[in-house]
Amino acid sequence: MGYQIAIDGPAGAGKSTIAKKIAGKLGFIYVDTGAMYRAMALFLMNKGIDATDAAAVSLNCKDADITIRYENKEQVVYLNGENVNGMIRTEQVSNMASVTSANPDVRKKLVQLQQKLAADADVVMDGRDIGTCVLPDADVKVFLTAGSRVRAERRYKELVKKGEECDIDVIEKDIIERDRQDMTREISPLTAADDAVLVDSSYMTIDEVADAIMKMTAKKS
Ligand code: DC
Repeated sequence: MGYQIAIDGPAGAGKSTIAKKIAGKLGFIYVDTGAMYRAMALFLMNKGIDATDAAAVSLNCKDADITIRYENKEQVVYLNGENVNGMIRTEQVSNMASVTSANPDVRKKLVQLQQKLAADADVVMDGRDIGTCVLPDADVKVFLTAGSRVRAERRYKELVKKGEECDIDVIEKDIIERDRQDMTREISPLTAADDAVLVDSSYMTIDEVADAIMKMTAKKS
C-alpha cells in the first residue's frame, strides 16, 4: 500500500485546492472523490431518474461505468467512455449529487473504485468520508473546515470573477443546507475521524494550510 493522505471537510473549505497543491509538492496522485459522485449524478440526471426515488437510483447506478485517468497530471473522469470533466460543475449536478451521494449502492460502488486507486499509488484523496470510511488507515488525516460566511465569500468571489450575478446571502444559505444534508445522512455522514487533525482555514492562506499539512506528512514519514 502507498502513502495515504485523507482530506475531508464541508464544501468550500478549500479541500481540492489544498489537496492538489500537496499532491504536486509530494509527487502523489490527487483523487477528487466528489467528481466521481458528480459523474454518477450526471448519469442519473441524463437518464431522467428522480433523485429521491431510492430504488431507481440503486438499480440504475449499476449501469454507470465511471473510470479515472490522469492526463497531463489532471484527473479526468470518464462516464461510459466519455470525458465528463466539463459537465459536472453545474449547480444542477451539485444539487443532484448532494442527494444521490446518500444512496448506499452509489457509495458502495464509488468507495470500491476509490480504494482500488489508493491500493497501487501514493495518494492525496479528498471528500467527506475518506478518513472515516474509504481509507481508515490513512497515514495523515485532515478535517478541513471554515466558517459558512467565509466559504460563501470565497464562492461569491469565484462567481463574480466569472461574471455571474449572485447574492452572498443565498450562497451562504445553500452552503448551510448542503452541510446539513451531508452531515445528517445515514450512511457515511460528513464527520471528522477520531484521529483526524482539525484545520480551520477561515483565516489562513492556501500556503499556510498546505504548510501545516506538509509538516504532518514530514512527521509521519
Ligand atoms: O466535493 P464536491 O462538492 O465535488 O462533492 C459533490 C457531492 O458529493 C457533495 O454533495 C458531497 C458528495 N460527496 C460524498 O458524499 N462523499 C465524498 N467522498 C465526496 C463527495
